[in-house]
Amino acid sequence: MDHKTLVDTARQARGRAFAPYSNFKVGAALETADGTIVTGCNIENSTYGLTLCAERVAVFKAVSEGHRTFVRIAVVADTREPTPPCGPCRQILWEFCGDIEIILANLTDEEGRYQLKDLLPLPFDARLLRP
Ligand code: THU
Repeated sequence: MDHKTLVDTARQARGRAFAPYSNFKVGAALETADGTIVTGCNIENSTYGLTLCAERVAVFKAVSEGHRTFVRIAVVADTREPTPPCGPCRQILWEFCGDIEIILANLTDEEGRYQLKDLLPLPFDARLLRP
């Protein structure tokens, strides 16, 4: 799948966001090594703290469906500036995806491409638990 189609898939996922508290809708499309695309959207909760970001929904859906190797993720929000993954999502992405490419886009344009290692320098991970 090309970048534009992956971004368009994230845009469609954004349309399914449940964000009545922030009204800030986010969509994600995660590409696995075998080319499967797993989408996510943010899902908020009236307690606020239980809110799940689009990126984590996509990762957890994919892992629960048996996927373990990932290539890229596109993240879409309706912002002029790029909407990068929050800190906890960077940690979750690192755990399951390693140094994947992150494509940020809004409703009309692609805004940037990053490698996760540049967004999460000096990560804590399983290597440190098995010295
Ligand atoms: N959000 C995401 O889903 N992904 C991000 O990268 C940034 C923030 C969500 C969480 C919350 O539902 C709303 O956006 C406002 O923070």
